[in-house]
Amino acid sequence: MKETETVKGIIFDLDGVICFTDVYHYRAWKQMADEEGIEFDEKINERLKGVSRAESLEIILEKASRMYTQEEKTALMEHKNNLYREYLKQMSPKDLSDEVHKTLLELRAKGLKLAIGSSSKNAKFILERIGLDGFFDAVSDGTNIQRSKPDPQVFLMAAEMLGFDPSECLVVEDAEAGIDAACAGHFHNAGIGSAREYGKTEFSLSTFQDLLALPAFDH
Ligand code: BG6
Ligand code: MG
Repeated sequence: MKETETVKGIIFDLDGVICFTDVYHYRAWKQMADEEGIEFDEKINERLKGVSRAESLEIILEKASRMYTQEEKTALMEHKNNLYREYLKQMSPKDLSDEVHKTLLELRAKGLKLAIGSSSKNAKFILERIGLDGFFDAVSDGTNIQRSKPDPQVFLMAAEMLGFDPSECLVVEDAEAGIDAACAGHFHNAGIGSAREYGKTEFSLSTFQDLLALPAFDH
C-alpha cells in the first residue's frame, strides 16, 4: 500500500473472521460424508473455505465411489444445511468475542465504513444470532451473488454498496480463496488464521485487533 492511499472501508469475511462458524460447517459436512461413506478430513475441509455450498459438495464428492444425480446432490446440500443451521440456532451474542466487537467499534470510530463479504446464504441469520443484525454499513453475501470466491463478485458488490472503489477498501479473510478474490478485484487484503501465511496475503494479522495497528487506517 502506498503512503498516499487511504483505506475508507473494510470488508470482512464472516465465517472464520468475525465468528467461528467454520467449525460448524466442518461438523455438518463431516456427518453427511460419514453417512455416505465418503472420506473427508480437515485437510479437504480447508479447500471448502470461502467457496459456495454447491462447490463445496463437488469437492467432497471427488472422493465418492459413485456418481450422484443432481436430485441427490440437492438433497445432500439440504441435509448438510439443516445440520449446520441446528448449530447456528445455538449461537448467541456470546459467540461474538469482546476483541472482535471492540475492534469493530474502534474501526468505526476512526471513520471507516464496515461491510460483510461472505459466500454464505446464512450470513444474515448468523449476524442476527451474534447480535450484529443491522450493525454493518453493507452486507454482500451468498444471496446476492452468482459466482463465489475466488471470483471477486461478493467483494465488488460490497464496495459498490459502500460507494467506494476497490482500491479504497481492505478485505479481511481467513481463506486462500478469499485472498485470491480480493487480489482479483484489486482490493487491499489482510489474512488471519489459515490465510496468514498465504503468499498473496498483503498484511498478516496474528489477532483481529491487529487491524487497529495498520498505518493506512489513520485518516
Ligand atoms: C463461506 C464458508 O463463508 O460460506 C464456506 O467459508 C461455505 O465454507 C460458504 O461453503 C457457503 O455457506 P452456506 O451457509 O451458504 O452454506
Ligand atoms: Mg472464511
